[in-house]
Amino acid sequence: MEEKRHYFDVVVIGSGLAGLRASIEAVKVGSVAVLTKLYPTRSHSTAAQGGIGAALGNEEPDDPAWHTFDTVKGSDYLGDQDAIELMCYEAIPTVIELEHMGVPFSRTPEGKIAQRRFGGHTKHFGAEPVRRACYSADRTGHAVLFALFEQANRLGVRFFEECQVLDIVIEDNKVQGIIALELKSGILHIFEAKAVVVAVGGFGRLFKVTSNALASTGECLSMLFEQGVPLEDMEFFQFHPTGIYGLGILITEGARGEGGILINGLGERFMEKYAPTLKDLAPRDVVARAMLQEIREGRGINGKDYVYLDLRHIPREIIEKRLPEISSFCKIYLGIDPAEAPIPVAPTAHYAMGGIPTDIHGRVRADIGETFIEGLYSAGECACVSVHGANRLGCNSLLDTLVFGRQAGKHIVQNFKDLTKGSVPRARIERVKDMIKDFINRKGKERLSNLREELQEVMTTYCSVFRDEEGLKRAIESIRDLRERFKYISLRDSSLIFNQELLNAFELYHMFNLAEVIAQSALMRTESRGAHYRVDFPSRDDEAWLKHTFAFKRGEEIVFKYRPVMITKFTPQERKF
Ligand code: FUM
Repeated sequence: MEEKRHYFDVVVIGSGLAGLRASIEAVKVGSVAVLTKLYPTRSHSTAAQGGIGAALGNEEPDDPAWHTFDTVKGSDYLGDQDAIELMCYEAIPTVIELEHMGVPFSRTPEGKIAQRRFGGHTKHFGAEPVRRACYSADRTGHAVLFALFEQANRLGVRFFEECQVLDIVIEDNKVQGIIALELKSGILHIFEAKAVVVAVGGFGRLFKVTSNALASTGECLSMLFEQGVPLEDMEFFQFHPTGIYGLGILITEGARGEGGILINGLGERFMEKYAPTLKDLAPRDVVARAMLQEIREGRGINGKDYVYLDLRHIPREIIEKRLPEISSFCKIYLGIDPAEAPIPVAPTAHYAMGGIPTDIHGRVRADIGETFIEGLYSAGECACVSVHGANRLGCNSLLDTLVFGRQAGKHIVQNFKDLTKGSVPRARIERVKDMIKDFINRKGKERLSNLREELQEVMTTYCSVFRDEEGLKRAIESIRDLRERFKYISLRDSSLIFNQELLNAFELYHMFNLAEVIAQSALMRTESRGAHYRVDFPSRDDEAWLKHTFAFKRGEEIVFKYRPVMITKFTPQERKF
């Protein structure tokens, strides 16, 4: 295989918002390369619809202290409060900065950035919903991504698109660089760097029905895990209440922020029962469970496994102006006009609260204490700071990517002189080549696509909104069985150019690791908190479980350690919405 070597001071993996924001900062001090599996502007951040949270107070009084409180409570008190406070206070300059970078936000009649309601965001510490999500119609992620991409290009960041990372090289507790396959040429690119920022987004593709893009498979997290880096709080996976039924495509929470309501098969606005104050704008864990409860008790639409999101009472001009994207999705995928017909919806796998553990500077933790992997940073959905704890509030995800992408970039700038150049050993390159050869030469009876679908089925059946011991044990057994069958896959394409099968094999190999960490972490946590609901342990248990899960790979086993939650201002209370 042909090889090309590169040196950049900083290599960023992923061109979503976190990666772009980190690169815009880091390029102030040195050369920066951004590697991406797709074309940069196709990163999954473009799919973010409803908004970015910031207590600007443009539409009504708001306060970053309220934002902080909502985020802590939304997280079911598992979020680290120092990180949450930083994020919520930084939200305001972050949005102003975006405006200055050219993001075309929707506007109030006076020309200020418009804001709308989102789940769990309130005024006066939970009293009533507040307009906090700054938006660009329902294409907010798209608008922000294009502005940042332009800025990164202007500042001289180099992009290597359609490059699949095959190894993130850590030796001697230092990141040395990465090895990636360029899809169009089949050339192996070896990047050495002082610092690597992992900003690769989520891994919703572990589930059968998801709002996540095809590329959201999480292999970079697994590459780190295989080298002893822990993964934090992986049992917490968010299901967004309103995915288009059967397809999982997102219908933004902004639709409920604009007044949309959920109704069951009896035509009842059932959220009044589950969350009397916030109703349809309760946090996502509460709404998703309520929907499934209605369905389980036979009150789905026509007794089926979905409910309706009803926007028919919202004036057509509001739908067309503020929700054009979801409006067109309804027309294309369902053949309905949401101004005239209710939208069939069901929870869809949406967001990983857990991931690569970092401190507030994006430094990747080596263990549960204050030790870090030299030069290795992470930000965005793949990272766990942890600002979302057991359940993320809507519109805090774009905020997280931008605040902590910048934090990582800033830390690199401030510590640039102390960072040492990495060096990728020959043995690691040969190992990657051997792996490619091994996959290409496998001539067994198993089809990759079958194994992937079976894995998604297992995760959806046993590891989604409702969980119990028996199901989680079955999940672990099935994942191990599928991993065994993976040895007998067969690839029909043996070329190196745009070999999608080879990439799928790499993805699936790593997906087994993440699936098992999720199932095992969920099995260990014998309580219910946020998005992790154990039918057999339905209460939150702060005495035993107010702590972060850290999963480590040790040989073939996964071992667990726990880290205390950082509590500063808000002592855990019973959550009522
Ligand atoms: O509903 C939405 O627009 C999604 C936003 C988010 O996940 O933050």
